[in-house]
Amino acid sequence: MAFPEGFLWGGATAANQCEGAWDVDGRGPAETDMLTGGTVNTPRMLTYRMPDGTEGAVPQWEGVPEGGRLAVLDGYLYPNHDAIDFYHHYKEDIALFAEMGFKQYRMSISWSRIYPTGIEDEPNQAGLDFYRNVFLELQKYGIEPLVTMWHFDTPNYIEEELGGWENHDTIALFDKYARTILTEYKGLVKNWLTFNEINNTIAFIEMGHPTDEKYRAAYQHLHNKFVASAHAVKMAHEIDPAYKVGCMICGIANYPLTPDPDDILANRYQWEKNIFYCGDVQCKGKYPTFAKRLWNEHGVELEITEQDLADLAEGPVDFYTFSYYMSNAVTTHQTDDQVGGNFVMGAKNPYLTYSDWGWALDPKGLRYYLELIYDRYEKPIMVVENGLGAFDELVEGEDGQMTVHDDYRIDYLREHVKEMEIAIEDGVDLVGYTTWGCIDLVSAGTGEMRKRYGFIYVDKNDDGTGTMARYKKDSFAWYKKVIASNGADIA
Ligand code: BG6
Repeated sequence: MAFPEGFLWGGATAANQCEGAWDVDGRGPAETDMLTGGTVNTPRMLTYRMPDGTEGAVPQWEGVPEGGRLAVLDGYLYPNHDAIDFYHHYKEDIALFAEMGFKQYRMSISWSRIYPTGIEDEPNQAGLDFYRNVFLELQKYGIEPLVTMWHFDTPNYIEEELGGWENHDTIALFDKYARTILTEYKGLVKNWLTFNEINNTIAFIEMGHPTDEKYRAAYQHLHNKFVASAHAVKMAHEIDPAYKVGCMICGIANYPLTPDPDDILANRYQWEKNIFYCGDVQCKGKYPTFAKRLWNEHGVELEITEQDLADLAEGPVDFYTFSYYMSNAVTTHQTDDQVGGNFVMGAKNPYLTYSDWGWALDPKGLRYYLELIYDRYEKPIMVVENGLGAFDELVEGEDGQMTVHDDYRIDYLREHVKEMEIAIEDGVDLVGYTTWGCIDLVSAGTGEMRKRYGFIYVDKNDDGTGTMARYKKDSFAWYKKVIASNGADIA
């Protein structure tokens, strides 16, 4: 059997996409609270108010006009405000995860539940209590938490009043937050991730209208996060030598569309810019040689201190994690057949099929990615997001219970599990797999509920209606069987 004993099967969520309770028990606002819903063709908007009182909305990657402040406005729907109300349903949801046999549950802590603005001296006790209760509930069932410290939700005060991640001082605020949670949850958590899909910072600005200044800001933003991540790793090891800390990369397998040497080079540079840049710094503790070329392309000059470089060298991560949904084709040639995906645009690959949201379905790309990355870093790896966002239809099952016949999801997951198995046989030290949105939640990219990933259906609709009732889909029983057989029975 390929999957090693103790393999960490499970599922993954993020605070801002599932908790809801956005303004409950002292939680402060984050940018994700001011994001409207969108669709595959219309972007999520950030809503804002100007000093003169005028109000407006802009696509999320554009940023609000100078002087504007994010605001919750009448007439808009903010899907993350209630999400699936995991905040009040966590016991029920964790019981369902346990029923599937989860060994690991990946979740994130909302920074602004712990420090509402980020600058308080003392943490918010109610926030600390909430996550303690969640960890205790997981412990009851023997499920290991895998905790992401940051999943798209910096306290809004830091973003708007202090310059966000472009400001070097934000590192110290993150240090304080990281120290608090690493100390508070000692003994309840073993594995941590610092920044979710850290590499999306560059891809994100490229979705809009990137300028050299935007590149400079994005690379500075990343540098400050690298240093904060290195601090967190070092701190974790000091607080509890049993702690292991990983990075988290948005993993997209890039292929050249043609054998034209220009496409081969463009593809290699895409890997470097989008995938290796962050992985190298976080795994090796230093910038790669090609960083210079990337910065020079946009005349970027970064503020990097000698101390920062020393800190990076002292804080390489213990393991590598990534999300994997799709591959991407890169070309220098004009092509009308463009497809969007997880924060990236690329050419359509004629050998693949695509999801309803246009994401390339490519299980072999997962094997390609795993083998390439393991060879590069030789650190244990986890796939911490994978899954199919699809339309689901709730129907009455044979037993009279409501369910979803989601064979398409089972097929998708099965093919990816097969490729993980081959990668393990080929020598990759793959230690865990958490499927994305193991319970339906709000889509990060489009803000939709109807883009569902879960084994558990949540009765919540895009217009905010729904009972929040939970129902097991067919994939629930399938995954339970996969876990019980440690990946041997995936039929
Ligand atoms: C990753 C994120 O980008 O992909 C998740 O880490 C996100 O937060 C997931 O939800 C799937 O993307 P989407 O846009 O379908 O929600």
